[in-house]
Amino acid sequence: MSKPRILVARAVFPEVIDRLAVHFEVSHNQVDAAWSKADLIARLQGMAGAFTTGGERIDAEVLAACPDLRICANMAVGYNNFDLPAMTARGVLGTNTPDVLTETTADFGFALLMATARRVTESEHYLRAGRWTKWSYDMFAGAEVHGSTLGILGMGRIGQGIARRGAHGFGMRVIYHNRSRLAPEVEAACGATYVGKDELLRTADHLVLVLPYSAESHHAIGAAEIAQMKPTATLVNIARGGIVDDAALAAALREQRIAAAGLDVFEGEPRVHPDLLTVPNVVLTPHIASATVQTRRAMADLAADNLIGYLVQGRPITPLNPEVLGAA
Ligand code: GLV
Repeated sequence: MSKPRILVARAVFPEVIDRLAVHFEVSHNQVDAAWSKADLIARLQGMAGAFTTGGERIDAEVLAACPDLRICANMAVGYNNFDLPAMTARGVLGTNTPDVLTETTADFGFALLMATARRVTESEHYLRAGRWTKWSYDMFAGAEVHGSTLGILGMGRIGQGIARRGAHGFGMRVIYHNRSRLAPEVEAACGATYVGKDELLRTADHLVLVLPYSAESHHAIGAAEIAQMKPTATLVNIARGGIVDDAALAAALREQRIAAAGLDVFEGEPRVHPDLLTVPNVVLTPHIASATVQTRRAMADLAADNLIGYLVQGRPITPLNPEVLGAA
């Protein structure tokens, strides 16, 4: 019997391509060419599965043009590149990669918080530019992290990981806001207290965003929300571009309406709002929160396991729209 055909839309570990090739006829993009939507549609013809990375938009137009498609396996926990209702309507399964990246991403959230509060990149630029001629008492004096108030907007697995680090590692008071409040035992385990969004904004010394992107969370942090924050506060976004209004944030940073920000994700990335590139009090990283070798490999393996699990064994590991399984 011929093997099902799948498309790996972006470059990925060669070992993962080899694993997939045991089960599938694999088309890949190991040169990592930038494909337009039309390119993606053309390459998906006759494919039963797609290995995607979060940048490939799978919407009604793609689905209508690719009738053989049965599964899109995202190598990402976020899946706002999927129009999930449209996929469900067409009987196409979506999968993501939860859990395997939780602790690594929480580590990075904390790294960005620390770098932002303690002005790590700003001071390094100063040093590299040869401007460090003498020590002074207030040079790059930043914000205290230990013992301060950590605010978390979005309290899924990664938010809880950041809360644990703050509460148990840094003696922080942790407050959070989420669509739904966590069970008391989960709150206790991560040392976090539920508050309303306004209180979160007003009270946090360091605010970390970890909520999924959706139409509802678009610009959840804009000029009005930033205006509620303390002038000494820092803001960290490791969630998705579009949750923060980047232009409003850049203006606020320039006018020092908040102290600093750390951003790993951007509206319209890989483009970065030009105003963010010229303000000094922002730490900028290129969407690397889950980027350790082990974690990226675990994510790629889980995406591959979802393709194998569904197309070969009929059992995906982490389905996003399991109702498709019942209908299949
Ligand atoms: C990365 O942004 C992911 O969603 O895994």
